[in-house]
Amino acid sequence: MYESIFILKGNIIYSKSASELEICEHGYLVCENGEVRGVYQTLPFEFGGIPVTDYEDRLIIPGLVDLHVHAPQYSYRGLGMDMELLEWLETNTFPEESKFRDLDYARQSYRVFTDNLRKSATTRACIFATVHRRATLLLMDMLEETGLSTMVGKVNMDRNCPDYIRESSAEESAEDTVEWIKDVVHKKYEHTRPILTPRFTPSCTDELMEKLKMVQMRYDLPLQSHLSENPGEIAWVKELCPWSAFYGDAYDKFGLFGMDCPTVMAHCVYSGEEEIARIKENGVFIAHCPESNMNIASGVAPVRRFLEEGLHVGMGSDVAGGSTENIFAAMSHAIQASKLRWRLLDDSLKPLAVEEVFYMATKGGGEFFGKVGSFEPGYELDAVILDDSRLEHPQPLDVKKRLERLIYFSDDREVFAKYVKGNRLF
Ligand code: GUN
Ligand code: FE
Repeated sequence: MYESIFILKGNIIYSKSASELEICEHGYLVCENGEVRGVYQTLPFEFGGIPVTDYEDRLIIPGLVDLHVHAPQYSYRGLGMDMELLEWLETNTFPEESKFRDLDYARQSYRVFTDNLRKSATTRACIFATVHRRATLLLMDMLEETGLSTMVGKVNMDRNCPDYIRESSAEESAEDTVEWIKDVVHKKYEHTRPILTPRFTPSCTDELMEKLKMVQMRYDLPLQSHLSENPGEIAWVKELCPWSAFYGDAYDKFGLFGMDCPTVMAHCVYSGEEEIARIKENGVFIAHCPESNMNIASGVAPVRRFLEEGLHVGMGSDVAGGSTENIFAAMSHAIQASKLRWRLLDDSLKPLAVEEVFYMATKGGGEFFGKVGSFEPGYELDAVILDDSRLEHPQPLDVKKRLERLIYFSDDREVFAKYVKGNRLF
């Protein structure tokens, strides 16, 4: 009767909304053809005889979603954090990313990134590569092998960066992008999809943006970029695009701001009223990257405002602005940053709570991938089984408290098993 059906048993946790955390202790999660059939406290009679994997007292949560991470930056995590964005890009990012012209170097560096992402609690990610199309394809090959479900972008940049990494013209950048997409189509990946990736407005000429819109329409591609991260960057965009009403408008003028295709913008620390309204109107996703925003002294995004407005918000590690791919760390950083923002800057937005960061890291970001990030019926089954026995406590704790502790101080040692779209990775 069923093509493929199995059941996971354990302490099941998932979000229905930013304020509603569902917990089913010692419950059953039924997965059919890669999707959630339902969560049950007692197993309905119709599922009798179906194999049950009993994870006992462990926690079962939806796989975490990293909406913004730079794979080539993994190797210099934690370095050069005494600079702001634009100086940090010149000093750390561009020299390191230029090394990915060499496929041997790319393979070595991407091996560390893909191994660690596979072991983490992340099941989905939107990933920046570099301008190099062959190294980007190599990264996609390696990610495909992990079984994670990812979107990966060859970066475009044809201005305002050193010669050794700048694409020589808008034409070359767009043509290379098309060649890369053709290669990707040819590969017939099951889990790995391309995403258009203009680095940010300062790196891309108007001509390149126009061409990328044509590429987007031809291949129906989602898009990822950066938005309103740092005051110096925003002032620069105003100079480069004097015709724009605000930073996001500089993408929107080219049709690259969510109106046709799913779009995710990292940061939005300084998005003003008009920009927030446009983000909402166009259904743009925001990747909130609190650790990066602290490390390179960008600021703190008004995340509660975004949630209250009903915007799509997910979490991003933004390695190497962020120092770790661990999205649990991103969640605790989001809470901590929101408290400082509330105390020091704006007491109208109260600090974020566990329910809210858990929602952003699962269902909020998951929506960028479709019905992903929850255990409600019909969602694709991404599940992570967490074993918190290493995090000893002298007394028994309830499931919500165990989740809170995992958010604040777990890492890949707590990831006991992992499923993506119903396939068990380990
Ligand atoms: N803006 C443009 N490029 C980058 C990058 O690599 N990291 C971050 N955090 N912001 C950017
Ligand atoms: Fe980034």
